[in-house]
Amino acid sequence: MGFYSEKILPDLIGCVCSRGAIMKQRAKVVPRAKGQVLEIGMGAAANLELYDTTRVERLIGVEPSAGMRRKAAEKLADTTIPHDLLDAGGEALPLPDASVDTIVLTYTLCSIPQAEDAMREMRRVLKPDGQLLFCEHGRAPDPGVVRWQERIETIWKRIAGGCHLARPMDQLITGGGFAIREMEAEYMPGSPRFAGFDYIGMATPA
Ligand SMILES: C[S@@+](CC[C@H](N)C(=O)[O-])C[C@H]1O[C@@H](n2cnc3c(N)ncnc32)[C@H](O)[C@@H]1O
Repeated sequence: MGFYSEKILPDLIGCVCSRGAIMKQRAKVVPRAKGQVLEIGMGAAANLELYDTTRVERLIGVEPSAGMRRKAAEKLADTTIPHDLLDAGGEALPLPDASVDTIVLTYTLCSIPQAEDAMREMRRVLKPDGQLLFCEHGRAPDPGVVRWQERIETIWKRIAGGCHLARPMDQLITGGGFAIREMEAEYMPGSPRFAGFDYIGMATPA
């Protein structure tokens, strides 16, 4: 891994992803996490302050970037929630089938290279009565915005840690074997439209 992705990007992502407007979007779903909770691509652990500590029995974070794990570990050092931070990607989760109650997926599916594989893995490890809480940015509903998303995606991916701008998040979730039970989809206030169309909601195994 290069200097940029392991030394500069973690600070950049940690900073951008914890600004007020984004925290408000996360807060719509993260406090609902309960039981054994798996967070995919934990990043700098920006969600940590939003968990209801009376409902979360254990928090398992998977994160393939050493630089991001370093940032997450700094935050996790202060939490009372029992936790594990694992060096793994969403495409191959080192967890048994049907072993977690909640999966938290926030601003990560955009960055996972094999997003379809990761969704299948999430479906595998989630209990039949479990929930997937998601808050992801992706493909906008307006053709003019999509044109921009597709135009700049190649260069954007290079500076933003592999982040895809135009992924249809609802289709990826349902394609992975989930039924979306609740969803709001909206442009995040104060964000550029090409990177700010959010899909926020809850899904269960289909
Ligand atoms: C924009 S950050 C979001 C981090 C965090 N989920 C949050 O809500 O702040 C995207 C994260 O996805 C992680 N990531 C990249 N490839 C991944 C993969 N294959 N599986 C899981 N996470 C991945 C990155 O290392 C980074 O931490």
